[in-house]
Amino acid sequence: MIDPELRRDIVELEMVRSVDIHENGVVDVMVSLTTPGCPIRGHFQTGVGEAIRKLEGVTGVNISFDVLSDNEKQALGRKLGRGSLPEGALAQVKNVICVGSGKGGVGKSSVTANLAAALTADGKQVGVLDADVWGYSQPRMLGLGNERPHVNAERKIVPLRAYDGISVMSIGFFVEQDAAVVWRGPMLHKALQQFLEDVDWGELDYLLIDLPPGTGDVSMTLAQLLPQAKFVIVTTPQPVAQKVARRSAEMATKLKLEIAGVIENMSGFVTPSGERFQLFGEGGGQLLAEELEVPLLGKVPLTMPLREQSDAGVPVVFSDPDDPAAQALHHAARGLIALSPIELPVMQMPAPAAAPKPVGMSLPMA
Ligand SMILES: Nc1ncnc2c1ncn2[C@@H]1O[C@H](COP(=O)(O)OP(=O)(O)O)[C@@H](O)[C@H]1O
Ligand SMILES: [Mg+2]
Repeated sequence: MIDPELRRDIVELEMVRSVDIHENGVVDVMVSLTTPGCPIRGHFQTGVGEAIRKLEGVTGVNISFDVLSDNEKQALGRKLGRGSLPEGALAQVKNVICVGSGKGGVGKSSVTANLAAALTADGKQVGVLDADVWGYSQPRMLGLGNERPHVNAERKIVPLRAYDGISVMSIGFFVEQDAAVVWRGPMLHKALQQFLEDVDWGELDYLLIDLPPGTGDVSMTLAQLLPQAKFVIVTTPQPVAQKVARRSAEMATKLKLEIAGVIENMSGFVTPSGERFQLFGEGGGQLLAEELEVPLLGKVPLTMPLREQSDAGVPVVFSDPDDPAAQALHHAARGLIALSPIELPVMQMPAPAAAPKPVGMSLPMA
């Protein structure tokens, strides 16, 4: 049973006060609400009842309600706000956005670097965590060649700064140039945890995480560490690619991460004279967005400047803001801003008569 406002499992949120199973197959459940006049009480009544009645041997269900104590509400706030990271690790980061896709080469890293550039251009404080440990590319795309991060007085790793604003952390800063990283399992988990806990990210509006392709170890680890992260899925317009991308959406859903939207990349090729060819077909992004019931944040065409600039270490959003790919990426960044939560203090629970909310809103992280 998922709390429709908090978007998390009510068992995991410790909102199930008690479960008593009687010999005759009747089950009594008490659910704790955040406020006595909780508007979604009816929703819980039906949802919990249905979930339990489905179980073998159950002959009846009684559902009662009470209200979380102030201490419990605070614990819930902490749970929603900081996940399983130690207090304060990302306390000053307002939004965590994972950029993922089913497969490699669809432009996740280019999209991440350019979203970072566009958000920065719109006055946001942005960080980029390159979680593609095997195929790291943010150092190159953001023009951070040979520098190495240093450790500050608080013994935290200071991210490198790209373009006077974007804080960047990548495994690429710690290994010899182009060396292969062969970590898996616990090593990988530890490295990612360190990137979140031991890096001085400071105050950020957005931390963008460039995921490796596929649905493996890294995504699982991050989901564990960052239950409040949202996903942006990058796909190409081909129906086949959209099927692959859907797998990463399914994984996100399984991990209970919210999907913020879809970005279609390589949406046709625009010639310098403005003519467009649909090299990779059409409509994949739209289909996927409809299927997932999330917004299509942008359709980014293939352009020469995007490729050249990402090789040269300058996001096209900075170097050629009028390029059609740059414009589409800027548009997508504005879409993300529009979806971001309004800033409530973390302890504040949803008001009984909640005003209509923008799609995708959830409690902020800090
Ligand atoms: N819209 C685009 N226009 C031109 N080149 C692109 C575009 N998107 C990606 N590329 C190029 O395709 C290659 C793969 O992109 P990348 O962002 O590294 O993908 P991923 O991170 O998904 O593996 C890179 O060389 C990049 O410059
Ligand atoms: Mg990549």
